[in-house]
Order: sequence, then C-alpha cells, then structure tokens
Amino acid sequence: MREIVLSKAQIQEVCSRLGKEITECIKNEKKIPVIIGIMKGALPFMEDLVKYIDEKVYLDYLQISSYSGTHSTGTVQLLKDVSFDLTDRTAIIVEDIVDTGLSMKYLISHIKSKGPKDVKVCALFDKAIARKNDVKVDFVGVSLTENKFIIGYGLDYREIYRNEPEVTVLPPDEKEELDKMLETR
Ligand code: IMP
Ligand code: MG
Repeated sequence: MREIVLSKAQIQEVCSRLGKEITECIKNEKKIPVIIGIMKGALPFMEDLVKYIDEKVYLDYLQISSYSGTHSTGTVQLLKDVSFDLTDRTAIIVEDIVDTGLSMKYLISHIKSKGPKDVKVCALFDKAIARKNDVKVDFVGVSLTENKFIIGYGLDYREIYRNEPEVTVLPPDEKEELDKMLETR
C-alpha cells in the first residue's frame, strides 16, 4: 500500500481554498491577470484550481525541463514560452511543487523580464526544507516537512504516474521495479 499524501477529496479542498485566496488577491486588478501553468507537472492542478477562481483571468502555459529521475539536473531549459503579452498585468505562476527552488527562480526572472505589474507564485506543494535559494511561494497548497519523493496528480517519476488521481509517496521497491521495467519498454 502506498502512503497517501493528498486524496482526491483533499485535492479539491486545497484547490477551493487556493482559488479563494487568488480571487481575493486579484479582485481589484485593472488589467486581466494571467494564470501561467507550468507543464507538464502542474496541468491537473491548474485545471482544478482555475475552476475555483471567481474573477476574469487569462490562462497560459509554459514548459520547462529541469528534472531527471528523482534529482534536479541543475539547469533549466525553456521548452515552450507564454503566448500572452504580460506587460502591466499580474502574472500568477502555477507549479506542482517547489523543491530546491531552482526552476522557480528561473521562472520568476523569465516572467519578470516580460514587464508584468507583479509576479506571484502558487504551488500545490512547498518543500521548503529542500530550498537552495530565497524563492517564496505566495499561495501554498501543502507544506511538506519531510523530504519524500511524491508522485501522482501531475507529479512524475521518469514521466510515469502523472495520470494517477491522488498524490502518494513512491515506495523504494516500486521505484526499483519501474527502473527495471523502463529498460525494456
Ligand atoms: P526544483 O527546481 O528543485 O524546485 O524542482 C522543481 C520541479 O522538480 C518540480 O516542478 C517537479 O517537476 C520536480 N519535483 C521536485 N520534487 C518532486 C517530487 O517529490 N516528485 C516529483 N517531482 C518533483
Ligand atoms: Mg514540474
């Protein structure tokens, strides 16, 4: 049995609370804010979260790659950029998890270079103990106090498990089994 970190019902509770927080934060914006989902990990979270935002927003997506297996590779690659003009608009970056903070540091400076009014960060998980810089998350779903590798609901190990509906801890034996299986498939 896997250890459940966030069940389907808990995911909806977290998205509802974060949606209200974001709605409150952007209710007096003059220009329509842009919510930027970071692919691929944040896609399921983004889809649920935006249903709980009760204001007019634009949705956009950006894709980066920084992870290989269970470790950050240390370099961030931009695979797809945003398509909206962010000038003078509030941009809210939506991520699955902020771990070392390396990806988010890159994302914040990349988005800031487009001249937005403000840049805010929303993450389903905040692994603050693993942080290697001063990146802060404005809207935190769940703060993780233990450095465990989690999967499901967008989060992957070697691109697998993103489609699972709950967030669980990847057990070492299952990881080993998958590593072996991926050599042949
Ligand atoms: P960071 O640059 O170290 O903050 O890593 C951010 C990215 O690493 C996230 O967007 C995830 O894609 C991935 N990541 C970090 N921790 C985990 C985890 O526990 N499970 C799955 N992916 C993770
Ligand atoms: Mg990710």
